[in-house]
Amino acid sequence: MARITLRQLLDHAAEHDYGVPAFNINNMEQVIAILEAARKADAPVIMQASRGARSYAGDTMLVRMVDAAEALYPEIPICLHQDHGNDETTCFSAIQQGFTSVMMDGSLEADAKTPASYEYNVDITRNVTAMAHRVGVSVEGELGCLGSLETGEGDAEDGHGFEGALDREMLLTDPVQASEFVAETKVDALAVAIGTSHGAYKFTRPPTGDILAMDVIEAIHERLPGTHIVMHGSSSVPQELQDIFNRYGGEMPQTYGVPVDQIERGIKSGVRKVNIDTDCRLAMTGVMRKVAQENKSEFDPRKFLKPALDAMKDLCLDRFDRFGTAGNASKIKVIPLAEMASRYSSGALDPRIARDEAA
Ligand code: G3H
Ligand code: 13P
Ligand code: ZN
Repeated sequence: MARITLRQLLDHAAEHDYGVPAFNINNMEQVIAILEAARKADAPVIMQASRGARSYAGDTMLVRMVDAAEALYPEIPICLHQDHGNDETTCFSAIQQGFTSVMMDGSLEADAKTPASYEYNVDITRNVTAMAHRVGVSVEGELGCLGSLETGEGDAEDGHGFEGALDREMLLTDPVQASEFVAETKVDALAVAIGTSHGAYKFTRPPTGDILAMDVIEAIHERLPGTHIVMHGSSSVPQELQDIFNRYGGEMPQTYGVPVDQIERGIKSGVRKVNIDTDCRLAMTGVMRKVAQENKSEFDPRKFLKPALDAMKDLCLDRFDRFGTAGNASKIKVIPLAEMASRYSSGALDPRIARDEAA
């Protein structure tokens, strides 16, 4: 099966009221875990690579792993997405490598640290969208800065994100500005700031509405019912995974993620793409710690990596089921990039917002 674009996949998800987890990939085991779960669930897949993943594995290795996945799991539509592109070069080089979707994260400047002005964000995102759509590739934009409503701090992880205090209004996407942004940039999907942040340490207590602003998603969806909303920082950091990690020598202070039932609530209000990396990392490394502690003489990496792969597969399977992604792969017939390109140029895929409504 050909690689699917994010736009086609999320249009299908919107039409059939489900969400799609977007799992980050860095290595072969993660690719296999996702595809094995997808095959079992009959779920379409979004695999996303950060800039860090592209430099860790290298573009050739990363893309060839996805080529291999396509050959081995021909029944599964696979979208390959650039996570948090910081500038045009990152996005266009991804397209050159065969990614069918890119995120132009213009909420931050090209250093991926400094919060950007609205005008900068619109300009750079509009440029990327104009070019990507010419070849049928989808674009995700971001409005608002990810960060904690509990601490008022931006979200800095692995060298990505703003470090320091941010005004509450920067930490929450404004629904009126969101309409304007989508109309001006023509993005296919919009990442929003609602108090989620990357990594394991999202909340110090089970989140309530004051620190996980699901009502903002509902307000955005009301103004922009045709726009696919993306939730970043959406790992749930399940207690059982923290417990395994800590039981076998890890030192992760008690923390709370985004409850799966809140994501399910989001899916009822236009959330179509749900970014998950931390949970996959934790599922894998918890099991690797267990193997290391229980078999101190073990030195074959496969004895660590196979159970780690299985643990990630279980996690993926659970999210495919909970988000309603399961059962949909076989219902999708992939539209080639050239056909997507001609649909964009005809205006058929333009955002459905009246310009005067956006103001
Ligand atoms: O954007 C956040 C993801 O968790 C990717 O993390 O940049 O360490 O690969 P990474
Ligand atoms: P988590 O760190 O919550 O898994 O978020 C991942 C993400 O948003 C990648 O863009
Ligand atoms: Zn993210």
